Amino acid sequence: GSGLHANVVWHKCSVEKNDRQELLNQKGCVIWITGLSGSGKSTVACALTRALHARGKLTYILDGDTVRHGLNCDLTFKAEDRTENIRRIGEVAKLFANAGVICIASVVSPYRKDRDACRSILPDGDFIEVFMDIPLCVCEARNPKGLYKLARAGKIKGFTGIDDPYEAPLNSEIVIQQGEVCPPPEAMAEIVISYLEAKVY
Ligand code: PPS
Repeated sequence: GSGLHANVVWHKCSVEKNDRQELLNQKGCVIWITGLSGSGKSTVACALTRALHARGKLTYILDGDTVRHGLNCDLTFKAEDRTENIRRIGEVAKLFANAGVICIASVVSPYRKDRDACRSILPDGDFIEVFMDIPLCVCEARNPKGLYKLARAGKIKGFTGIDDPYEAPLNSEIVIQQGEVCPPPEAMAEIVISYLEAKVY
Protein backbone atom coordinates (compact mmCIF):
# COMPACT_ATOMS: atom_id res chain seq x y z
CA GLY A 1 0.00 0.00 0.00
CA SER A 2 0.95 3.65 0.06
CA GLY A 3 0.52 6.53 2.43
CA LEU A 4 1.08 7.14 6.08
CA HIS A 5 0.52 3.60 7.32
CA ALA A 6 2.43 1.75 4.59
CA ASN A 7 5.41 0.95 6.79
CA VAL A 8 3.55 -0.03 9.93
CA VAL A 9 4.09 -3.69 10.63
CA TRP A 10 1.76 -5.57 12.96
CA HIS A 11 3.77 -7.72 15.33
CA LYS A 12 2.27 -10.94 16.51
CA CYS A 13 2.73 -11.28 20.23
CA SER A 14 2.66 -14.44 22.28
CA VAL A 15 0.21 -13.05 24.84
CA GLU A 16 -3.16 -12.47 23.19
CA LYS A 17 -6.52 -11.08 24.27
CA ASN A 18 -7.76 -14.55 25.18
CA ASP A 19 -4.79 -15.16 27.46
CA ARG A 20 -5.46 -11.91 29.31
CA GLN A 21 -9.15 -12.72 29.60
CA GLU A 22 -8.31 -16.14 31.00
CA LEU A 23 -5.94 -14.56 33.52
CA LEU A 24 -8.61 -12.12 34.63
CA ASN A 25 -11.44 -14.64 34.36
CA GLN A 26 -13.64 -12.18 32.50
CA LYS A 27 -14.44 -10.96 29.02
CA GLY A 28 -13.25 -7.53 27.95
CA CYS A 29 -16.01 -5.37 26.52
CA VAL A 30 -17.23 -1.80 26.21
CA ILE A 31 -20.33 -0.63 28.02
CA TRP A 32 -21.24 2.63 26.33
CA ILE A 33 -23.57 4.83 28.37
CA THR A 34 -25.14 7.62 26.29
CA GLY A 35 -27.67 10.30 27.22
CA LEU A 36 -28.29 13.94 27.92
CA SER A 37 -26.34 15.92 30.48
CA GLY A 38 -27.96 15.20 33.83
CA SER A 39 -29.51 11.92 32.68
CA GLY A 40 -27.50 9.96 35.26
CA LYS A 41 -24.75 8.45 33.10
CA SER A 42 -22.00 8.95 35.69
CA THR A 43 -24.23 7.72 38.52
CA VAL A 44 -24.96 4.48 36.65
CA ALA A 45 -21.30 4.14 35.64
CA CYS A 46 -20.24 4.42 39.29
CA ALA A 47 -22.85 1.99 40.58
CA LEU A 48 -21.95 -0.45 37.82
CA THR A 49 -18.22 -0.27 38.44
CA ARG A 50 -18.80 -0.83 42.19
CA ALA A 51 -21.11 -3.80 41.60
CA LEU A 52 -18.78 -5.45 39.09
CA HIS A 53 -15.71 -4.78 41.24
CA ALA A 54 -17.48 -6.44 44.17
CA ARG A 55 -17.99 -9.49 41.90
CA GLY A 56 -14.26 -9.62 41.18
CA LYS A 57 -14.44 -8.00 37.75
CA LEU A 58 -11.84 -5.48 36.59
CA THR A 59 -13.50 -2.34 35.22
CA TYR A 60 -12.45 1.13 34.18
CA ILE A 61 -14.58 4.23 33.60
CA LEU A 62 -13.93 6.68 30.77
CA ASP A 63 -15.99 9.75 31.62
CA GLY A 64 -16.46 12.55 29.08
CA ASP A 65 -15.96 15.25 31.64
CA THR A 66 -12.74 13.65 32.92
CA VAL A 67 -11.23 12.75 29.56
CA ARG A 68 -11.85 16.29 28.34
CA HIS A 69 -9.43 17.49 31.06
CA GLY A 70 -6.60 15.34 29.72
CA LEU A 71 -6.47 13.37 26.49
CA ASN A 72 -9.16 15.52 24.87
CA CYS A 73 -8.33 18.91 26.39
CA ASP A 74 -7.87 20.31 22.88
CA LEU A 75 -11.51 19.68 21.94
CA THR A 76 -14.54 21.99 22.20
CA PHE A 77 -18.25 21.13 21.92
CA LYS A 78 -18.67 22.06 18.26
CA ALA A 79 -19.90 19.15 16.15
CA GLU A 80 -16.59 18.07 14.63
CA ASP A 81 -14.86 18.19 18.03
CA ARG A 82 -17.58 16.08 19.63
CA THR A 83 -17.09 13.59 16.81
CA GLU A 84 -13.34 13.52 17.50
CA ASN A 85 -13.98 13.25 21.26
CA ILE A 86 -16.13 10.18 20.69
CA ARG A 87 -13.73 8.68 18.16
CA ARG A 88 -10.81 8.91 20.61
CA ILE A 89 -12.83 7.60 23.54
CA GLY A 90 -14.02 4.73 21.32
CA GLU A 91 -10.44 3.87 20.38
CA VAL A 92 -9.25 4.00 24.01
CA ALA A 93 -12.22 1.89 25.09
CA LYS A 94 -11.29 -0.63 22.42
CA LEU A 95 -7.75 -0.87 23.85
CA PHE A 96 -9.14 -1.44 27.34
CA ALA A 97 -11.50 -4.14 26.07
CA ASN A 98 -8.58 -5.77 24.29
CA ALA A 99 -6.67 -5.66 27.57
CA GLY A 100 -9.51 -7.76 29.02
CA VAL A 101 -11.03 -4.92 31.01
CA ILE A 102 -14.74 -4.09 31.19
CA CYS A 103 -14.55 -0.49 30.01
CA ILE A 104 -17.46 1.76 30.91
CA ALA A 105 -17.71 4.86 28.72
CA SER A 106 -19.94 7.60 30.12
CA VAL A 107 -20.36 10.28 27.47
CA VAL A 108 -23.20 12.32 26.02
CA SER A 109 -22.20 11.05 22.54
CA PRO A 110 -25.15 12.84 20.93
CA TYR A 111 -24.60 11.81 17.32
CA ARG A 112 -25.72 8.36 16.21
CA LYS A 113 -23.07 7.98 13.51
CA ASP A 114 -20.29 8.56 16.06
CA ARG A 115 -21.63 5.93 18.45
CA ASP A 116 -22.13 3.49 15.57
CA ALA A 117 -18.54 4.11 14.44
CA CYS A 118 -17.34 3.09 17.93
CA ARG A 119 -19.47 -0.03 17.75
CA SER A 120 -18.08 -0.90 14.33
CA ILE A 121 -14.43 -1.05 15.46
CA LEU A 122 -15.17 -3.70 18.10
CA PRO A 123 -15.83 -7.42 17.65
CA ASP A 124 -19.53 -8.32 17.45
CA GLY A 125 -21.18 -8.30 20.84
CA ASP A 126 -18.36 -6.42 22.57
CA PHE A 127 -20.08 -3.02 22.36
CA ILE A 128 -23.03 -2.76 24.69
CA GLU A 129 -24.96 0.48 24.34
CA VAL A 130 -26.90 1.72 27.35
CA PHE A 131 -29.35 4.52 26.57
CA MET A 132 -30.29 6.76 29.49
CA ASP A 133 -33.80 7.49 28.20
CA ILE A 134 -34.60 10.36 30.53
CA PRO A 135 -36.75 13.23 29.24
CA LEU A 136 -35.06 16.59 28.76
CA CYS A 137 -37.43 18.25 31.23
CA VAL A 138 -36.29 15.83 33.96
CA CYS A 139 -32.59 16.41 33.20
CA GLU A 140 -33.19 20.12 33.07
CA ALA A 141 -35.03 20.14 36.38
CA ARG A 142 -32.11 18.27 37.99
CA ASN A 143 -29.73 20.81 36.42
CA PRO A 144 -26.80 19.40 38.45
CA LYS A 145 -24.16 21.79 37.15
CA GLY A 146 -26.39 24.77 36.39
CA LEU A 147 -25.56 24.42 32.69
CA TYR A 148 -29.13 24.15 31.38
CA LYS A 149 -29.95 27.49 32.93
CA LEU A 150 -26.95 29.05 31.20
CA ALA A 151 -27.89 27.37 27.91
CA ARG A 152 -31.48 28.66 28.14
CA ALA A 153 -30.12 32.13 28.79
CA GLY A 154 -27.96 31.86 25.68
CA LYS A 155 -24.77 31.99 27.74
CA ILE A 156 -23.70 28.56 26.50
CA LYS A 157 -24.20 28.00 22.79
CA GLY A 158 -24.75 24.56 21.28
CA PHE A 159 -25.86 22.76 24.42
CA THR A 160 -27.10 19.23 23.84
CA GLY A 161 -30.89 19.05 24.01
CA ILE A 162 -31.30 22.83 23.92
CA ASP A 163 -29.72 24.08 20.72
CA ASP A 164 -27.70 21.06 19.67
CA PRO A 165 -29.32 17.72 18.80
CA TYR A 166 -29.36 14.50 20.80
CA GLU A 167 -29.99 11.59 18.45
CA ALA A 168 -31.50 8.85 20.59
CA PRO A 169 -30.29 5.30 19.92
CA LEU A 170 -32.65 3.17 17.84
CA ASN A 171 -31.30 -0.25 18.77
CA SER A 172 -29.40 0.01 22.02
CA GLU A 173 -28.85 -3.21 23.94
CA ILE A 174 -30.20 -1.63 27.13
CA VAL A 175 -32.64 1.24 27.74
CA ILE A 176 -32.87 2.78 31.18
CA GLN A 177 -36.03 4.73 31.95
CA GLN A 178 -37.61 6.07 35.07
CA GLY A 179 -41.20 6.27 36.15
CA GLU A 180 -42.51 8.50 38.90
CA VAL A 181 -39.32 8.26 40.89
CA CYS A 182 -35.75 7.69 39.83
CA PRO A 183 -34.70 4.09 40.59
CA PRO A 184 -31.72 3.76 42.94
CA PRO A 185 -28.37 3.58 41.09
CA GLU A 186 -27.87 -0.02 42.26
CA ALA A 187 -31.12 -1.05 40.54
CA MET A 188 -30.02 0.59 37.29
CA ALA A 189 -26.62 -1.11 37.51
CA GLU A 190 -28.39 -4.43 38.10
CA ILE A 191 -30.19 -4.08 34.73
CA VAL A 192 -26.80 -3.92 33.01
CA ILE A 193 -25.38 -6.78 35.07
CA SER A 194 -28.38 -9.00 34.22
CA TYR A 195 -27.69 -8.32 30.56
CA LEU A 196 -24.01 -9.21 30.95
CA GLU A 197 -24.86 -12.40 32.79
CA ALA A 198 -27.34 -13.44 30.09
CA LYS A 199 -25.44 -12.39 26.98
CA VAL A 200 -21.74 -12.04 27.77
CA TYR A 201 -20.92 -14.43 30.61
S1 PPS B 1 -19.89 14.87 23.95
O1 PPS B 1 -21.02 15.56 23.30
O2 PPS B 1 -20.11 13.41 23.99
O3 PPS B 1 -18.63 15.21 23.30
O4 PPS B 1 -19.86 15.41 25.46
P1 PPS B 1 -19.02 14.86 26.72
O5 PPS B 1 -17.58 14.72 26.39
O6 PPS B 1 -19.70 13.66 27.28
O7 PPS B 1 -19.15 16.06 27.75
C1 PPS B 1 -20.37 16.41 28.26
C2 PPS B 1 -20.23 17.22 29.55
O8 PPS B 1 -19.72 18.53 29.27
C3 PPS B 1 -20.56 19.53 29.82
N1 PPS B 1 -20.89 20.44 28.72
C4 PPS B 1 -21.72 20.21 27.67
N2 PPS B 1 -22.53 19.18 27.35
C5 PPS B 1 -23.25 19.29 26.21
N3 PPS B 1 -23.23 20.36 25.37
C6 PPS B 1 -22.44 21.42 25.65
N4 PPS B 1 -22.40 22.47 24.85
C7 PPS B 1 -21.65 21.37 26.85
N5 PPS B 1 -20.77 22.22 27.44
C8 PPS B 1 -20.33 21.65 28.55
C9 PPS B 1 -21.72 18.88 30.47
O9 PPS B 1 -21.58 19.10 31.84
C10 PPS B 1 -21.57 17.40 30.20
O10 PPS B 1 -21.49 16.65 31.41
P2 PPS B 1 -22.54 15.51 31.84
O11 PPS B 1 -21.75 14.68 32.79
O12 PPS B 1 -22.97 14.74 30.64
O13 PPS B 1 -23.63 16.26 32.50
